[in-house]
Amino acid sequence: MSVIAELAMDSPVAIGGSPPHWLPLAAGDRLGDLARHYDEYPHPPYADHAPHRGVPPRDLLDLARYVLWPRRKVLADARVLDAGCGTGAQLAAMGMRHPDVELWGVDVSARSLDDAADRARRCNVGSVHLRQLPVERVGELGLEFDLVVLQGVLSASSDPRATLSAAASVVRPEGGILVSVAAPYGRLGAEGFRELVDLARGGQPRAERLRFARKLRASREWHSRLLEAVLDSREEDDASLAELAVLDPPLRAYSVPELTGLLASAGLRIWRFHPRTPYEPERYLPAPHHGCLRAVPEVLRPAVAELLHSAMHTHCFFAVREGFEPERVDLDGEDWLDLQPIANGLWDFAASDGPVPEQAGRAGVATREFCGRCECIALTPWQRIALELCESGTRVRDILRSRRLRQELAGLGRGDYCEAVRSFLRRAAHDELVYLVG
Ligand SMILES: C[S@@+](CC[C@H](N)C(=O)[O-])C[C@H]1O[C@@H](n2cnc3c(N)ncnc32)[C@H](O)[C@@H]1O
Repeated sequence: MSVIAELAMDSPVAIGGSPPHWLPLAAGDRLGDLARHYDEYPHPPYADHAPHRGVPPRDLLDLARYVLWPRRKVLADARVLDAGCGTGAQLAAMGMRHPDVELWGVDVSARSLDDAADRARRCNVGSVHLRQLPVERVGELGLEFDLVVLQGVLSASSDPRATLSAAASVVRPEGGILVSVAAPYGRLGAEGFRELVDLARGGQPRAERLRFARKLRASREWHSRLLEAVLDSREEDDASLAELAVLDPPLRAYSVPELTGLLASAGLRIWRFHPRTPYEPERYLPAPHHGCLRAVPEVLRPAVAELLHSAMHTHCFFAVREGFEPERVDLDGEDWLDLQPIANGLWDFAASDGPVPEQAGRAGVATREFCGRCECIALTPWQRIALELCESGTRVRDILRSRRLRQELAGLGRGDYCEAVRSFLRRAAHDELVYLVG
C-alpha cells in the first residue's frame, strides 16, 4: 500500500481553514505514479473556462435528477462525491448552482486538490470537503452518497473492479454513479499516437516524450486522418496530451460489453447512457432496415449501437445497484399536465435553410454532436416555440397556455391543439430534446 493511501485520512479539509498540507508523493506503485502524473499535469487544466469532456459541469446534478430521481423536488439534502475530482471543476460548478448540496471530493494528487480548493474559494463555494484519498478507500469517509461521480478515473485504474466496488459501497441504495470512461473504437487514433511516441521515444524521460508529442501535435504535415480526429478535437491542452502520451501504463478503454461485465462484478448495472439515443441501434439504419435489429436482445442493443456508430471515444452513463429501478415519468400518465419538460442543453438550435413541409414560416433544426457524428432533428416553427418554453419550472399546462403557441396553431380545435403539443413533447422526450420531471 502506498504512503499516500496509508496517511491519506490524516490530511486536513482544504476549504475555509488554514492552507492544506497534502501528503508528499509516494513512488513505486500505481497510485503514487498516478498522483505524480496528475501533480505535474493537473486535470482539467486549472482555468476558469477550461474545456470539459463528459457532462458539462453545470448540468451534472440536474442531469442526475432527471435521470435518477425525476420526481425529487429538492436536491438541497443531497450529498455528492466526486471521486478523482482533479482540479475540482465539477465540484465548483455544482456548488455554485446548488449551494446547499454537501459536496465531497477525493483525489490522490496533491496539486489537483490544491487547485480544487483554490477554485472552490474563488467561486465562493463553501460546501466542499476535500480529502487526499484513493477512490478504492472512500469507505473510510464513513458516509453514504446520493451521487458518486467517477469521471476519467476508471481508465487509469489498475484494478477497475476494486475501484467500482469501492464507489458502489458508498452509494445509497437509491443513488447512482456517473461514470465517464474511454471507449475503444474512437480511440484508435489516440492509441496510434501513443504507439508512435513509444516507438520514437521509448525509454526516454517523460519530459522528452512529451516534447516529442507536442511536436507531433504541432506539425500538421504528417497528420493522418485517423489522428486528426483525436488531436483536433480532444487533446488540445497539454494536460490531455500528457495523459495520452506519457501516462504510464496508458489509459485503458472499455467497450460496452466489457463495461457491462465489469459493472456486474461490482453489483452494478448501466441504467442510462448519456446521451442515451446514440446507444439505440435503430439510429444508424434507415427505417426499412429496422426489422433486422428486432432479434437483438434488449441487453445487447447498446453494444450493437456502439459498433454501428464505430467511433465512440467516451462512454458516459449512470450506473445503479442491481435491484434499483429508478422511476420513469412520461406523458401518458394522468399527471401529464403537471410534468415539467426541461430543454436539454446539449442541443444547439438554429433556423434551418428552408421551411419544413407541413408548415410555412421559418423552420428550425436541433443538432447535437456525439463522438464525431451529428444528430439532426427538423422542427416546425411551433415546435421551436414549444421547446423555447421548456424551462425549469414550466409545466405542460403553462406551455399549453402560451399565447405564441396558440397563435401558431390557431387552426386547431382545443382537443387537437393539446394532443399535438402532447405528442410533440412525447417525441421530444424520447429524442432527449427535453427531460421530463414531476
Ligand atoms: C482525468 S482526471 C479527471 C478529473 C475529473 N474527474 C474530471 O473529470 O475533470 C483523473 C483524476 O483522477 C485522479 N485519480 C485517478 N485514479 C485515482 C484513484 N484511484 N484514487 C483517487 N484519485 C484518482 C487523478 O489524480 C486525477 O486527478
